[in-house]
This record gives sequence, C-alpha cells and structure tokens, in this order.
Amino acid sequence: MTTIRNIAVLTGGGDCPGLNAVLRAVVRTAISRGVSVWGVKNGFGGLVKNEMMFLGLSDVAGILPRGGTILGTTNRDNPFHFKVVEEDGTVVYKDMSGVVLENLKKREIDALLIIGGDGTIKIGGEFAQLGVKVVCVPKTIDNDIACTERTFGFDTAVGVATEALDRLHTTAESHHRVMVLEVMGRYAGWIALHAGLAGGADCILIPEIPYDIRAVQEKITRRQQKGSRFSLVVVAEGAAPVGGEMVGVERKEGTEKLRLGGIGNILAEQLAELCDVETRCTTLGHLQRGGSPTAYDRVLATRFGVTATEALLAGKTDIMVALQNNAVIEVALEEVAKQSALVPVDGELVRSAKSIGICFGD
Ligand code: F6P
Repeated sequence: MTTIRNIAVLTGGGDCPGLNAVLRAVVRTAISRGVSVWGVKNGFGGLVKNEMMFLGLSDVAGILPRGGTILGTTNRDNPFHFKVVEEDGTVVYKDMSGVVLENLKKREIDALLIIGGDGTIKIGGEFAQLGVKVVCVPKTIDNDIACTERTFGFDTAVGVATEALDRLHTTAESHHRVMVLEVMGRYAGWIALHAGLAGGADCILIPEIPYDIRAVQEKITRRQQKGSRFSLVVVAEGAAPVGGEMVGVERKEGTEKLRLGGIGNILAEQLAELCDVETRCTTLGHLQRGGSPTAYDRVLATRFGVTATEALLAGKTDIMVALQNNAVIEVALEEVAKQSALVPVDGELVRSAKSIGICFGD
C-alpha cells in the first residue's frame, strides 16, 4: 500500500454553506497525521491550470462559520471536456485529464479529496478510473445526492427559506394577498417541502408532483371562503404543471442544460387572474446559498471532512462519504452515480403535509 504524504482538496460546482467547515476538518485531520494538504483553486479548472495553494492550520483558522469556499469554485470546468481558446481565438473542448495527472505527479500529490455535487462527483469517479485515489464529500443545498440522507448546506438553505416565509406571512396577512415564494432545489423539491412545512405554507409545488393550477386555485378560494384572505405558496424552481415544461434560461456552459428560475412569477400572475386576488412573487435565489452555515451544517460538514480524510489516508478510493441512519459511512461512487435523491411522492413527509391540509396541486 502506498503511503499518503500529500493530498489535494478541491471544491467544485455551486458553493454552499459548510464548504469551509469541511476544508478546516480536512486540513486539521491530515496535518495531525503528518500529511500535507494542497488546496486546488477554483474547482477542476485549478487542477488543469496547476493553480494550488498550500493549506496550513493558519489558513483554515476562523473559517468554520464562513460561507462560500476559501478555494473558489466553478460549475463550468470539466477536465475531460475542457474549454480551450486557441491562438486564433477559436474555442475548442479538449480532454485535459492527462495534464491533471501530470500536475498531480509534479507536486507529488498521492490522493484527491473532492467536495462537490453530482457533476463534480461524477468527474471524481472518472479520475478514480484513471488510477487516482479519490474520496468525495457530497455538498449541495438541494439535498439531491443519492446514497446520503443529507448534504450539508441544505439545512441552512431551508432556514433561510423558512425565515422568508415567516416574513411573507405577516405582510400577506396585512394586505390579504397571495404570496408566492420561489426557492431553489434544481430537479428536487426538498427545500420547498421542508421550508413549506416549517413555514406554514398552504401550497407546496415540487418537481416530483406536476401541479394542476386549478387545484391551487381551489385551495386558495376555499381559504378565502373560510375567511383567510391570504395564502402562502412555495414553489420549487423545478416545479412544472401537468404536461408542462420546467422554466429557465439555457446555460451556455456546464453540465446542466437549463438555469432554472421564473416559475414563481408565472404562477403569481396566473393565480392573480384565477383567484381575483393581489399576488406577489419573491424569488430567494442565491440568498439560500450564501452566508454562514447553521450549527447542523457545520457539524455534518466537519464529520464528512474528517471521515473522508481518514478514508483517503487509509488508501481508500472511488468512494463518497454519506450520512445513513445518522452515521457517516462510505459508499461506492458507482452507486452514487446511478440516481438522484428526489422527494418520494408517497413518502411520510408528503403524506404528513397532505394530512395537515397542504396542497401539492395534484
Ligand atoms: O445546485 C445548487 C443550485 O443552487 C440549484 O439549486 C440551482 O438550480 C443552481 O445551483 C443555480 O446555479 P447558478 O449558481 O449557476 O445560477
């Protein structure tokens, strides 16, 4: 078994609260075992361009509560399909994985710790296939990574969305309005579902359950008839009506086709018309991704960082750390790649929400 002396850590994909807590845990754990840590700047792009910084204890001091990532990140760069601008200005996409392997060799880096969402983890798996020792840590506010019950960042995002609902509640009530809150989550409705439950939403619309606008209208009208002249609707950015498409703009680069967003405004306009009520839409956007992680996310990020580093130092590869039954365990990257973690439509959470009268538009 090769002895691990130097590891590199990178953060890839969209940022989320808790990334710095992982970095702190990685550096502290590795250094306490006599192992050096290189921090790769700006995700996989830094591996291709050989942009790295040495991470010592002082570099990670004080970063536990800080949002974002001290290393920088991007959701664009894929070393296996890397954008290169030729001298004459033409843009071509090249496989730069060989350059990455060279860069790792030059710095005598024995193993890679990759913190990212599904796109980043998939690329990690491809490097593992090339013989690089790779351990991944799942991150995303969306909570949509397979094989783990939680990703850090999610709890913080739900907290932000819940606070937004609490604030919308009072103004909705005063003005007798319908307030639509659009939250992130990509193709999963976890943020909408949890925030909607915690914030007392009347309707929660998620990608997993295509909605019928008439069902939402009926819910709001029933409330009006009973004397509740305001309503709160939480809509996940990936929600779509029955037979309809998700709303967003095309992405020019990266693995995703669409940059989701806009369904909230469409819904608010439709409901204003159908229910003859004043409506407003708030789109929370990146407020859900920024800022300080909650205590829960700091703890989970720290546990993931420690376990991933220990696994890497033990020579393990091609795995991701995950939370299952409240224990941090290791799962094969192959298993993670097979699916996304979507909201089970007949699961206990949705059933509980329906039991207390929340409408899902179905
Ligand atoms: O995956 C995290 C996430 O915030 C999604 O919820 C959202 O759809 C997407 O990233 C937004 O990406 P960007 O920051 O590139 O606009």
